[in-house]
Amino acid sequence: MNGSVNRQILLVEKPSGKLAPEHFKLREVAIPEVRDGEALLRVRYISLDAANRAWMHGATYRSAVEANSVMAGGGIAEVVSSKAPTLAPGDIVFGDTGWQDYAAVAATHLTKMPKIEPTTHLLSIYGVAGLTAYFGLLDVGKPKAGETVVVSAAAGSVGSIVGQIARIKGCRAVGIAGGKDKCRWLTSELGFDAAVDYKDGALFKALKAAAPNGIDVYFDNVGGDILEACLAQMNNRGRIACCGAISQYDGAPSATGPRGVPGLIVVKRLTMQGFIVMDYMERRNEALRDLQAWTSAGKIKVQEDIIDGLENTPRALIGLLAGENRGKRMIRV
Ligand SMILES: NC(=O)c1ccc[n+]([C@@H]2O[C@H](COP(=O)([O-])OP(=O)(O)OC[C@H]3O[C@@H](n4cnc5c(N)ncnc54)[C@H](OP(=O)(O)O)[C@@H]3O)[C@@H](O)[C@H]2O)c1
Repeated sequence: MNGSVNRQILLVEKPSGKLAPEHFKLREVAIPEVRDGEALLRVRYISLDAANRAWMHGATYRSAVEANSVMAGGGIAEVVSSKAPTLAPGDIVFGDTGWQDYAAVAATHLTKMPKIEPTTHLLSIYGVAGLTAYFGLLDVGKPKAGETVVVSAAAGSVGSIVGQIARIKGCRAVGIAGGKDKCRWLTSELGFDAAVDYKDGALFKALKAAAPNGIDVYFDNVGGDILEACLAQMNNRGRIACCGAISQYDGAPSATGPRGVPGLIVVKRLTMQGFIVMDYMERRNEALRDLQAWTSAGKIKVQEDIIDGLENTPRALIGLLAGENRGKRMIRV
C-alpha cells in the first residue's frame, strides 16, 4: 500500500437480492485531514458481521448504509495523530472506521482499548462477539445449571462463545449449524454436548434427539424456520434471547413470520426478549473479567478466521453470509 493513499471500499448499490461483489467498488483518495476533536486512525482489523448486510435494508439501531458511501463497519485501529485531548498517537481504539485504510473519527465515537496480544481478541472474545454472547445468554437467557441451552449459527462468532458459556454454567449446550464438519467441530473441539445440522433436512427430529428434555433457553441468531422449530420444543417458562435474524438479512425478508407466535408464547409462558449489546456497555468490565478468566483457564476456545487484504472485504462478507466462517471473521488491513 502507498503510504499517502487511502483505499476505500464503497457500497455502490444497495442489493435488492443477494449481496454480490458488483455491489462494491475500491477507490483511492487522499488520507483525510483531522479536525478538532478527531483522531486520524490507521485501520488494522475490520470486523465482518452478519449485521453489515442488515444495515443495507434501512435504519435499525444505527443509521442505514447508503449507496455511494464508504461501507460501514467496526474496526480496531491505531491512532496516527490526534486533535482530541483523550487520544494520543499509538493508542488502540475500536469504532466504526468503515472499510478503508485510514479514517478521521470523532474521539467521542471511539473506545480506547487495552494493548493485548493477540490484538485480534479485541474483535472476538473481548469485542462485540464476546460481549453479545455473555450478556445475551446470561442476562436475557438466564440459564440455570442442568437446563438445556440451544444456540443457532453456533459455529459463528457469537454462537461459538454462547455454547461454551452455557457449558461453563452447567447447562447442556446444543448448537445448530450448517454442515456435518461444523457440527463435528462444535462437539469435538468446543465441547458442545450435541450439534444439529440444519441443512440435513430433518431439523425438527434432529433437534428433538439433541434436546430430549426440551429447550429451556434458545439463543436465536437466525430467526425464520429455525426459530419456528425451537419454539415448538421450548419448555414451559423457557426464555428466547433474540440476538439477530441472519436468515432474513441477505435478500427480501420472508413474507410470513414463524408459526407459534404468539400462541406458543402464551401457552408455554415463554419470555422472548430482544437485546442490543450496546445497552450493556456500562457493565462491560464485569463481562471482560469473566471472559478473560475463562479464556486463560482454557474453558473458552477462541476461534478466529482472519483474511488478509482490504480488497477482500466484500468477498469475505458474502462468504460469511453463506456460512464459510468458523468463529470471528475479520480482515487484516
Ligand atoms: N443483538 C446484538 O447486539 C448483536 C450483536 C452482534 C451480533 N448480533 C447478531 O448475532 C448473529 C451472529 O452474527 P455474527 O456477525 O456473529 O455472524 P457469524 O455467526 O459469525 O456468521 C454468520 C453465520 O450464520 C450462519 N447462517 C447464515 N445464513 C443462515 C441461515 N439462513 N440460517 C441459519 N444460519 C445461517 C452461517 O453459518 P452456517 O454454516 O451454520 O449456516 C454463518 O457462518 C447475527 O444475527 C447478528 O445480527 C447481534
